[in-house]
Amino acid sequence: MAKILVTGAAGFIGSHTTDLLIAGGHTVLGVDNLRTGRRSNLERALRSPSFRLTEADVSEPGVMAALVSEFRPGAVIHLAALVSVQESISDPALNQRLNVTATQFVADAAAAQGTKRIVFASSAAIYGDTTDLPIAEESAAQPISPYGEAKLASEQLLLARSEAAGFTVRCHRYFNVFGPRQDPASPYSGVISIFDRRYRDGKPVTIFGDGRQTRDFISVHDVARANVVAATVPNITTGTANICTGQATSLLDIVSVFAAYYPKVAGPRFAPARAGDIIHSLGRPDRARSELNFEAKVSVADALGELIRSG
Ligand code: UD1
Repeated sequence: MAKILVTGAAGFIGSHTTDLLIAGGHTVLGVDNLRTGRRSNLERALRSPSFRLTEADVSEPGVMAALVSEFRPGAVIHLAALVSVQESISDPALNQRLNVTATQFVADAAAAQGTKRIVFASSAAIYGDTTDLPIAEESAAQPISPYGEAKLASEQLLLARSEAAGFTVRCHRYFNVFGPRQDPASPYSGVISIFDRRYRDGKPVTIFGDGRQTRDFISVHDVARANVVAATVPNITTGTANICTGQATSLLDIVSVFAAYYPKVAGPRFAPARAGDIIHSLGRPDRARSELNFEAKVSVADALGELIRSG
């Protein structure tokens, strides 16, 4: 069993990753500044003797260095981030600090303490608005937001350091992750979290466009498993891989699942497509399969059902 440090542990993906690590018998130190993460996401983890949460900001100098030297993890799963693309546009300096500088501190601390592995939360946003689908990792990285740029810069920084520092790096390019604990607060939150909240409140959802746009929606449980595999399975080599299902799901498909659960809620309203919205996004999952032996297992329908039934 391993000691794993999870940054952003109180966040959506971080809390599920933490739960899965604990269930696997690992010891976890979580760190989170609780800016967008919530302590309540860790309700179950906080009851475990194998878990401790430190409230701190990993983008501040010295924080990672101190935590890694004290805890001496075998791996760091670095998920702490500014997660909103919109916010990266409105506050690029904050995006730089939380999405690049923090990664630099993770790499420095891991190098100094001989940490063996870093798993990094990258994003399909680094591909920009490519229409060459499904997207493989060889596709040109052409981010179109400060968020995507920062994720790409972090990947490059970690990969460039890996050999000299002696750590293995796994960069996970997540596609559209969804599931329990995803925050629906902003209009730019993940569409499924927004739809879930609206149906729970008995209110109709708004579809921007005709609803035929598709995304590669992946369950947060699969994403958490990809993180745990990358951090704990022996003999994994440095690299970058899409974390996706390879299946396209339209918004109309999503709405029909909700509608079946909520027959009394009025049907969707349609509004003009959002400016800059891409119509289709789909990843190729092959590299994660060959390099990590990881494959998404949860179907969108099953994961949606679980989300809808969750408390
Ligand atoms: C994702 C990012 C977004 C970023 C884009 C490009 C998330 C949650 N969103 O957007 O910030 O700019 O990648 O990197 O990570 N929709 C509705 N009704 C709603 C909300 C959304 O119809 O109430 C539509 C959107 O217009 C879009 C689709 O649902 O067509 C999916 O939206 P979203 O969940 O934001 O994901 P991306 O578009 O992939």
